[in-house]
Amino acid sequence: MNLTPATVSRSKVESSEIILQSDLNSMGHLFGGRLVSIIDKIAAISALKHAHRAVVTLSIDRLVFRKPVRAGAIITVKASVNRVFNRSMEVGVIAVSLPFGIMEEEHVCSAYLTFVALDADGKPVEISPILPETNEEKRRFEEAGIRREHRLNLQTKLGKN
Ligand SMILES: CC(C)(COP(=O)(O)OP(=O)(O)OC[C@H]1O[C@@H](n2cnc3c(N)ncnc32)[C@H](O)[C@@H]1OP(=O)(O)O)[C@@H](O)C(=O)NCCC(=O)NCCS
Repeated sequence: MNLTPATVSRSKVESSEIILQSDLNSMGHLFGGRLVSIIDKIAAISALKHAHRAVVTLSIDRLVFRKPVRAGAIITVKASVNRVFNRSMEVGVIAVSLPFGIMEEEHVCSAYLTFVALDADGKPVEISPILPETNEEKRRFEEAGIRREHRLNLQTKLGKN
């Protein structure tokens, strides 16, 4: 198996969508589930670009909807791999919105998703290491380690291992 390390920048994905009436909830705001679907898709593309094999979403953590989004806004979702562990990796996602008629972007949502890479039989397999280069990438790499420790500690405390 080829496990050549790759840079974070090779896993970067950015995609924009316009918010339509059909994307709204009864309050006239973007339906949260619609945004989660976009986030999961863009994060999966980032994970695929890094792993070069099938990946599945294991978890979506710390997803926070910070601001409502209205029809006509342009939503841009940015994702990159924060850290590879062994057979799992964390992808960080941020969504910004450019409300209709307003020139300034708003941070509307961020989340951390864990993906597991699978072989042809659907069994988890090792993923190539990631190489953080910039200070920002190094900070995200460190923080991903802290989040993983918390996730695993919580599992242990709850007796779910
Ligand atoms: C993802 C999946 C293949 C993992 O299967 P599993 O038998 O739990 O896998 P393993 O125990 O071999 O662990 C694989 C990796 O997942 C990590 N993992 C598993 N459960 C975890 C949890 N609760 N929290 C954090 N990491 C976890 C393991 O630490 C391991 O990563 P590592 O090698 O980097 O340490 C399995 O849970 C699955 O198929 N889930 C459904 C995925 C899916 O359908 N997603 C679409 C969303 S509907």
